[in-house]
Amino acid sequence: MYNSKIIGLGYYVPDHVVSNDDLSKLMDTNDAWIQERTGIKERRWVKPGSEDTTSVMGVKAAKIAIERAGIDKDEIDFIVFATLSPDYYFPGPGVQVQEALGIKTVGALDVRNQCSGFIYGLSVADQFIKTGMYKNVLVIGSELHSKGLDKTTRGRSVSVIFGDGAGAAVLSRTEDNSKGVLSTHLHSEGEHAKELALTAPGMGTRWVDDILRENDPKDESYFPHMNGQFVFKNAVVRFSEVIMEGLMKNNLDKKDIDILIPHQANLRIAQFIQKKFGLNDDQVFNNIMKYGNTTAASIPIALTEAWEQGKIKEGDTVVLAAFGSGFTWGSAIIKW
Ligand code: ACO
Repeated sequence: MYNSKIIGLGYYVPDHVVSNDDLSKLMDTNDAWIQERTGIKERRWVKPGSEDTTSVMGVKAAKIAIERAGIDKDEIDFIVFATLSPDYYFPGPGVQVQEALGIKTVGALDVRNQCSGFIYGLSVADQFIKTGMYKNVLVIGSELHSKGLDKTTRGRSVSVIFGDGAGAAVLSRTEDNSKGVLSTHLHSEGEHAKELALTAPGMGTRWVDDILRENDPKDESYFPHMNGQFVFKNAVVRFSEVIMEGLMKNNLDKKDIDILIPHQANLRIAQFIQKKFGLNDDQVFNNIMKYGNTTAASIPIALTEAWEQGKIKEGDTVVLAAFGSGFTWGSAIIKW
C-alpha cells in the first residue's frame, strides 16, 4: 500500500468584493447582524458579465496547484470535482477541467456532497492512490453561489452567508507511510436532506414544460432553503464526532492537533469546536470573514491560505473537517 500526499495547492476567488453594507442596499439586513451571527465581513461574488463559472474558477485554482506540485498536467491520472453549483445540469464540471487543461483522456469524477464535497473528493483520491491505481490525482472544489441566491429580504438568512470561489489540491503517491493522508471518515444522514437543500423539482421528477407553465414568482423552491438553527445544532455535534473518530483511528489525542482547518460554514461553529477541543487561535484557521461560505471550495481555499502563510509545517498533524447539506460530514487526518 502507498500513501497519498498533497504536493500542490491553489485557490482562486473573483476580484469583486461584496461587503455586508453592499448587501444592506439589496435587502433588509445589516453589518452587525451578519458579523454577530456568522463572522462574515465580506464575500466575493462574480460580477455580471464575468467569464468566471464554477468550472472556469476550478481550472484557475487547478493550474496554480499543478504548477506548485511541480508536475506536468499530463502526469495527472484522474480528476475529482466537487460542487453543488455545476455550470450544467449535466455533464458535471470534471470533464470541463479535462478539456480546459488539455489533459489526455483521463477519468473525471463529479462529487455532489456540498460542504463535505472536498473531503469526499480527497478521500476518493486517497483510495485510488493507496491501492496503486493512480499516482497523481487532481481534486477541485468550486462554487458559484451568487447566480442562484435570492438577494431580496425573503432570502436574506441564506444569501448573506454564501460566496464564490475555488480551491484545488494535487495528491501524489508516496512510499513513506508515516506521511500524507492517514485516514478519511465519511458520513451521511439523508433523513435531513430537506433541511438544507434546493428543492425545486428536477428533470428527474417532473416535466420541465409543467414547471415552466406553473411557474409562480412566489415559488421559493428554485432558491436554496436552509433551516439554519437545525443545521447549526447538527453541525457542532457532527464536527466534534468526526474529528474524534479520525484522531482515535490514528491513536492521536486532541493535543496532537497542530492545525484544524474546518469547513468555513459559520465562524460561530468553528469557535465552538475550537473551545471544545481546547485549541488556541493559531491552531484553527478561519477565513470566512473574507470569503463567506464557499461550500466545496472552502477547505481547499483555507488550506492553501494556511499553507501560503506558513501555518502548516513539515510533520504537522493537520485535521480537515466538514459538515453540510445532505446532511453529509467528514474528516481527514493528514501528517504533513
Ligand atoms: N439580516 C437581518 N436579519 C436576519 C437575517 C439577515 N441576513 N436573516 C435572518 N434574519 C432575522 C430573522 O428573520 C429572524 O427575525 P425574527 O426573530 O424577527 O423572526 C432573526 O433574524 C433570527 O433568525 P434566525 O434564523 O433564528 O437566526 P440564527 O441565529 O439562527 O442565525 C444563521 C441564522 C446564521 C443562518 C445560523 O442559523 C447558522 O449559521 N446556521 C448554520 C448554517 C450553516 O452552517 N450552514 C452550513 C452548511 S452550508 C452547506 O452545506 C451548503
